[in-house]
Amino acid sequence: MTTHDPAAAPAAAYLARPHEVHRVVLLYSGGLDTSVMLKWVQDQYDAEVVALCVNLGQPEDDFDAIRQKALDLGAVASLVVDAREEFAHQYVAPAIRANARYQGGYPPFTALGRPLLAKLACQVAHEREADTVAHGCTGKGNDQVRIDAAVATLAPDLRVIAPVREWEMGRDEEIAYAREHGIPVSSTVERPYSIDDNLWGRSSEGGVIEDLDVAPPEDVFQLVTPPERAPDRPEEIELAFRDGLPVALDGQELPLVELIGRVAEVGARNGVGIVDHLEDRVVGLKVRDIYEVPAAEVILTAHRELEKLVCTGRENALKPQLDALWAQLAYEGLWYEPLLSDLNAFMDRVNERVEGEVVLRLYKGNATVIRRRSPNAIYDRSMATFDADASFSQSSSPGFIELFSLQSRMAHRVAESRSRG
Ligand code: ARG
Repeated sequence: MTTHDPAAAPAAAYLARPHEVHRVVLLYSGGLDTSVMLKWVQDQYDAEVVALCVNLGQPEDDFDAIRQKALDLGAVASLVVDAREEFAHQYVAPAIRANARYQGGYPPFTALGRPLLAKLACQVAHEREADTVAHGCTGKGNDQVRIDAAVATLAPDLRVIAPVREWEMGRDEEIAYAREHGIPVSSTVERPYSIDDNLWGRSSEGGVIEDLDVAPPEDVFQLVTPPERAPDRPEEIELAFRDGLPVALDGQELPLVELIGRVAEVGARNGVGIVDHLEDRVVGLKVRDIYEVPAAEVILTAHRELEKLVCTGRENALKPQLDALWAQLAYEGLWYEPLLSDLNAFMDRVNERVEGEVVLRLYKGNATVIRRRSPNAIYDRSMATFDADASFSQSSSPGFIELFSLQSRMAHRVAESRSRG
């Protein structure tokens, strides 16, 4: 374990020098890392710790127990903030409108949660007159980028410490430190994966997942039923959208948080939303994640389908490119980058027309759209039909084709005659 050299300059201006740390807001999960951290910060800096645990809809947590655990470990205050509404409306909603999937696979959820955690930590720090925000991110991941960048942006007066980046304790040393300092070490410590979850999904990293030759091990899946064990009968659900957001499930209007939860349940039981994803992290590492994202899989599939129905071909060609850019910025934690709000203006504008109903069939890992309808559909069956007496003027097509293909035909003719010499 390292001790601080008070003379050493920090690696970045936003990092705390030891003598600047008096009261710390610690983003606390109740797990081993942040529990060890709670003690370690008190010891190393002789500082007070305010623990902050944020509910983003992670399914398993017992928030009362977490709050009490922080107090038992010496926190001067311990807060639990229910941020599910804000998370769903301010973070997940724009991701839905942008069909957000990083590198085509990962629907960002951790990436959406981190800027919100950082924002809440800054608020609490200001309310409680703390000088420093502490978090449990390692130096290898994306989460440090997202939290540090958000704190440095929102609260340049505050400083950051990230003990895991500096304390150089391995897993065993951490457990030893915990035992020594009376920190309860639960059996879940034996879980071989690093987990993060919230209402939009769950991720597993590390352990045998790091072996790219190994198929996803069964014990990873805590949310989604493996498709081969899912029911033998398909289940159909109808999602209604307004302004590009899901508003009703099977005809029943529901608030967004609840709707996401219900969709996650049906998706999960039908094996929908398992993503085995090779991913390029912001810091350059290439890693493999296994995601369980039942709600995102179903909702994004339905949303994109409806968007295609109401958008023109030109919009449908451009939007996926801007969607990819949106996902990239969100993944990279550049939540306050003006380009992201510029993109949001575009996304919101397009999504004003994304209204209607989509029916999906969920069956053994697949979510397939089988029906769609919208008052804004750019679809006219009487024009599209193969049947006779359509209102589309087929006799106009040859003239159109002649002009439409003009330059391509000319270029081809030139190339031919040149190659003949
Ligand atoms: N790879 C995903 C991301 O960067 C998930 C990260 C999960 N975080 C964690 N601390 N286990 O958003």
